[in-house]
Amino acid sequence: MCGIVGYVGKQQAAPILLDGLAKLEYRGYDSAGIAVYNEKENKIDIVKAKGRLQALRDLTGDGQSVQGNIGIGHTRWATHGEPSVVNSHPHFNKDKSISIVHNGIIENYQPLKEKMQSRGLEFISQTDTEVVVHMLEHYYSGDPISAIIKVMHRVKGSYALGIMFKEHPGELYAVRKDSPLIVGTSAEGNFIASDVPAILKHTRDVYFIDNLEIAKITENSIEFFNEDREPIEKEMTTVKWDIEAAEKGGYEHFMLKEIYEQPKVVADTITPRIDNGKIVLNELNMSDEEIKGINRIYIIGCGSAYHVGLSAKYMIEETVRIPVDVDLASEFRYRNPIMDSNSLAIIISQSGETADSLAALREIKSRGIKVLGIVNVVGSSIAREADNVLYTWAGPEIAVATTKAYSTQLVACYMLGIHFAKVRGQIDDTQYDEMVNELNALPNKIQRILGDKERIQWFASKYSAAKDVFFIGRGQDYATSMEGSLKLKEISYIHSEAYAAGELKHGSISLIEDGTLSVALATQPALYEKMISNIVEVRSRGSYVFALTTEGNYNMEDTSDFTVYVPKTLPCFSTSLAVIPLQLFGYYVALAKGCDVDKPRNLAKSVTVE
Ligand code: AGP
Repeated sequence: MCGIVGYVGKQQAAPILLDGLAKLEYRGYDSAGIAVYNEKENKIDIVKAKGRLQALRDLTGDGQSVQGNIGIGHTRWATHGEPSVVNSHPHFNKDKSISIVHNGIIENYQPLKEKMQSRGLEFISQTDTEVVVHMLEHYYSGDPISAIIKVMHRVKGSYALGIMFKEHPGELYAVRKDSPLIVGTSAEGNFIASDVPAILKHTRDVYFIDNLEIAKITENSIEFFNEDREPIEKEMTTVKWDIEAAEKGGYEHFMLKEIYEQPKVVADTITPRIDNGKIVLNELNMSDEEIKGINRIYIIGCGSAYHVGLSAKYMIEETVRIPVDVDLASEFRYRNPIMDSNSLAIIISQSGETADSLAALREIKSRGIKVLGIVNVVGSSIAREADNVLYTWAGPEIAVATTKAYSTQLVACYMLGIHFAKVRGQIDDTQYDEMVNELNALPNKIQRILGDKERIQWFASKYSAAKDVFFIGRGQDYATSMEGSLKLKEISYIHSEAYAAGELKHGSISLIEDGTLSVALATQPALYEKMISNIVEVRSRGSYVFALTTEGNYNMEDTSDFTVYVPKTLPCFSTSLAVIPLQLFGYYVALAKGCDVDKPRNLAKSVTVE
């Protein structure tokens, strides 16, 4: 997520902006910039720098060299366009009479950009954001709010915008749709910010801007309007959070915050790629002929990224009917793999910097095979070296244990599978529409599961003393079990194993003792009865069974000791829902044990060494 700060008041703006941006560094960023209106010279000064905030501080003498008491600042988390000075915010129109900062994704920026270019407006960056400033110029005829409303009615997607118009010195505008934005007020001036930490040093008195609302802020006034330009009265809130709580949005840990961000970021990853009910994956740069010519798909990753591959294998093989090989990057890179030259290799990586995954990518490319990256960090090594990239738009993931990046990687794979199946004639229009509709329904279903966390929290607190936990499942549920097991062990340090449920009787069932916890996943209709048998098997040997199944399978309670239900979905999408209770289970067990949930021992967020 990008970070926005704005200020107008009695003080010099630049130092306040830099300080506010520093408080938003936790959100992750790759570049930063400020724009300040210089009254003496009647111009907007814009300074931007790639990399850490210090680079911006160095360029501006800690803000001292940029004069003016109104400005906007931004830390950029790249989604469209690599990290660079030109792509960083604030963006501006040609004569720098308008400047903006943006957090969010303009989903229809391509057609809007083409329309603006056809009107002679020149673009200098690769970002989606720049289209907004040119549209503001196009619709501006002296009245900022009128121009803003016209832009609001034409852009699709999510945005929090901070805007300055040179012809309206002393006025700051803020607009919000789906990306958070607040207004702060104090004796020294007024503020806008993406998040409370940026302005907590100056004020605790804030207004939360709601969707499709516009704020007009001056040194001594704050006005709100709706998209029909009607004035709105808003309640002021006094924030009680301390800085640390504010950075986590009020959640106790980044991991919990990121678990709860999943509905939004899954939607953020899907929605921009659905156009009139059709999946559009231009980023693949693959013609239908190329897609039809693929004999095999290789999916390579580490840890949770590898688990995404396991789930995707079931979905893609079932839907596309192409063989899918899933490999641990650390194994793949050294086993001199035999690869079909007419194949597609997919490297999945949140950070895009995992050494083993990068090495695997290079190994594959050395064989002349096309590599697609499914990556979260724009401009990362894997993103740069892959032939094409399908970005996940999960935003920066701070907790070491991945949750939201994992979920967005899953849906990226689903979209690819549905698209490939349609192109290869494996599914008809009816099946295609059903899959796309169900894909679009996943964020709300995830939200529903998150709304029922109390039962999982209660159950988890009973198992903080567990020594061994088994996760079992069949088909996709086996792949999901792998992720559930990893989540538990990496943050609670409790030994756990995931097993194909049909495999237990070939050895591991000997480990089951009285009270051993088995987490049994049973979301696959075709395998449900088999799973019931496996649950009976482990229970008859003393295991305590936490069953996870689909709403409607209420007979499960006759067989298990504790049951959690997830909404129905297509069986091939089941991981997206079944993983949520397992993430919560791992989190709450670790919490009950007093573990450092966000920074588990011995682990790094990105394993950039072998
Ligand atoms: C999962 O919770 C861990 N953080 C770890 O397994 C991670 O998925 C793995 O290291 C791969 O990281 P990447 O996605 O950044 O390549």
